[in-house]
Amino acid sequence: TAPNSATSCAEASGLKNPREAIRGLSCCPPLPLDGNDVPKPYTFPTVAFDKLRVRKPAHLLVEDTAYIKQFNTAIQKMKDLPDNDPHSWKNQAKIHCAYCNGGYTQVETGHPELTIQVHNSWLFLPFHRWYLYFLEKIMGKVLEDESFALPYWNWDNPAGMMLPAMYEGNIKDPKNAIYDALREPSHLPPAIFDFNYANKETSPVLPDDEQKNVNLALMYRQMISSGSSTLTFMGGQARAGLDSKDERVRSLSLGGSLENGVHTGAHRWVGNSRMPNGEDMGNFYSAGFDPLFYGHHANVDRMWNVWKAMGKQLRLDGHIDPVDEDWLNASYVFYDENRVRVRVYNKDSVHTPTMGYKYESSETPWVTRKP
Ligand code: C2O
Repeated sequence: TAPNSATSCAEASGLKNPREAIRGLSCCPPLPLDGNDVPKPYTFPTVAFDKLRVRKPAHLLVEDTAYIKQFNTAIQKMKDLPDNDPHSWKNQAKIHCAYCNGGYTQVETGHPELTIQVHNSWLFLPFHRWYLYFLEKIMGKVLEDESFALPYWNWDNPAGMMLPAMYEGNIKDPKNAIYDALREPSHLPPAIFDFNYANKETSPVLPDDEQKNVNLALMYRQMISSGSSTLTFMGGQARAGLDSKDERVRSLSLGGSLENGVHTGAHRWVGNSRMPNGEDMGNFYSAGFDPLFYGHHANVDRMWNVWKAMGKQLRLDGHIDPVDEDWLNASYVFYDENRVRVRVYNKDSVHTPTMGYKYESSETPWVTRKP
């Protein structure tokens, strides 16, 4: 059966220091204002091909003050919304906590004793795609500009291998909504992002050029050699009735090459090592509070498209989406930009132009960096 979530919700669990969880452990979304708890099926608005939202590399947007101002305004407006509004920044951030720290149970598929976990499996890419999709639509709504698109942290290109300055750098100011004080101070620009980063003790600081080369080789591995098949790239199978906390399930249901690699590396590298739970980026429950989370995941999302396009161009047969019914029919529940609670499916997430957006392209120099 496909794992389908989620209408019953509880507090976050699995934190190292739950008592010091400064972002709060309650991660359930507010109830629908009309009191109707049953999510509606979601249908896409039709978007003309020349009206697609275009996500651009964050490092190239740094001079675009109009865009940065808009981005900042959207986040500020969401931060200003009351806590019972599903569009508030806090409630959007908590979606990640609910789907990743045991907030939701598998009640709809008859396993209320088991929690939902969207990481370490083939749910990872589609869940995060949908999460960003609705956040972007909500930002467009608060800005009254449907063309608004998230930036992407272009870490796979050497020009983008540091924390993008628009999130920090010259606009470092606690009053700035894009800024998050809970980032690792020693990893701010101009430090080069270490894709392999685990922690201060075990991760040596390499000279910049060497670090970039290590990163490019790692990209090659994650996108091509280790990511050569559907399951090794997307992640192992997650089905209803499987307990993500069970060691045996864990050993079968592994994270995909991209998820386990640069994706996790960025969370560890950006999160503040002195915070009790690695807040914000270094922990599932708090990651969504940092605006950079969505820039990071936009590039992860872009890599899914790049991986499939490479499959066609280079005739890499394994670069295809799952066809298993349990993957296609797995679903999630979100509030859309009109505050309607909707259910969305993996099968509707496989083509981004259908979802109304695309990525401005950027070079992928790692394609020739076979280690
Ligand atoms: Cu849901 Cu980057 O993690």
